[in-house]
Amino acid sequence: MNKQEFLQKYVAERHGTDSMKWDGLEEKFGKGEKDLLAMWVADMEFKTCDAVVEAMTERSKHGVFGYSIVPDAYYTVFSQWMEQRYNFPIKKEWLRFSTGCVTGIAWMIHAFTDPGDACMILTPVYYPFHNVVTNSSRKLVKADLHYQDGYFTMDIEAIEKTVVENQVKMFLLCSPHNPAGRVWTEEELDQVLAVCKKHNVLVVSDEIHQDIVFKGNRFIPAAVVSGGKYQDIVVTLNSATKTFNLATLIHSHIIITNEKLRGIYDRFASALNRTEVSIMGMVATMAAYQHGGEWLKNVLEVIGDNYDYLKETLEKGLPGAKVCCMEGTYLPMVDLRKCVKAEKTQEFIQKRCRLAVDYGEWFGDGYQGFVRFNLATDPLYIRQAVERMIIEGKNG
Ligand SMILES: Cc1ncc(COP(=O)(O)O)c(C=O)c1O
Repeated sequence: MNKQEFLQKYVAERHGTDSMKWDGLEEKFGKGEKDLLAMWVADMEFKTCDAVVEAMTERSKHGVFGYSIVPDAYYTVFSQWMEQRYNFPIKKEWLRFSTGCVTGIAWMIHAFTDPGDACMILTPVYYPFHNVVTNSSRKLVKADLHYQDGYFTMDIEAIEKTVVENQVKMFLLCSPHNPAGRVWTEEELDQVLAVCKKHNVLVVSDEIHQDIVFKGNRFIPAAVVSGGKYQDIVVTLNSATKTFNLATLIHSHIIITNEKLRGIYDRFASALNRTEVSIMGMVATMAAYQHGGEWLKNVLEVIGDNYDYLKETLEKGLPGAKVCCMEGTYLPMVDLRKCVKAEKTQEFIQKRCRLAVDYGEWFGDGYQGFVRFNLATDPLYIRQAVERMIIEGKNG
């Protein structure tokens, strides 16, 4: 299937479908703002692959949605996906389930730390990472990524200093990183994980974006870095929800290879009562991992082309705009500080360009003047957004 055929078949109109991104605009951006072009919430305008829809349709025809178990076939299919793509076969006894990766982070915080303990994030980062720590009465500790000319890197020395000074107990790693767009290299991961190991910091690695990687970059799960050297201090969270546009099916994975940590988690989970799976989440995930490879290839091509278009056209048409790197995720930042006064960014983007985006300051201090775009969408929307920004830029 070529790109045009793919777009024709899979792009969906989402207004009027209770979509947070499209039908929740006024609630988030203010009264009278429901006609903004929505480029914020991290889901896609693409229908998921046929196999997922078929599997869910088939299951729903049975008509019974009682309590479910996870069949052995599920573990096999998931493990194969992880082994074939990331050299990380998953043993059945390592796997637990949650109703979302952020929920998974919250559970890990409660299972493995105490109120007042320090949890570290690398900013700018997906804002629920901030909230989940503070709302759990833990101490939020931030280490800034180094930003230069559209590219983010880890400052390992600063991270170690932060860990030591704050007696950090848990590190919430985002890999690939939203919104820095980085797919961390094995060397970078090795360095940051070595710091954690040295100072007894437990690592919760949110790898929800693992499958969305571009142009020669290679995603490496934290648990397999340097031959699995850090497996014992890593809890991995992932799901098929970002990859296959299944967020609302609230089904995700918690992978704990360390038996002692698993014991601690299981004791915590016994107080939660309900950690069994959502049947539709399980059915959809299994079908996606079994049959979704070709669909995913097409989606990545569309997103990659959207990024190339955004970068080339916006940087040329709006002098000073810098489209940051997107090695992974579909959520690049755009640094507008050289063409729009930082404090006027919202006025420019929302009032003049009529776009709904995520603003840099939501992700970290010092990022006012950045906006994050969601590129998992119809190329026509990207074109419209870029055109509006160029025209409004020319209007001064
Ligand atoms: C890094 C990261 N983690 C988690 C999520 C949300 O995952 P969930 O809906 O499973 O909580 C997102 C969504 O954008 C994300 O970017």
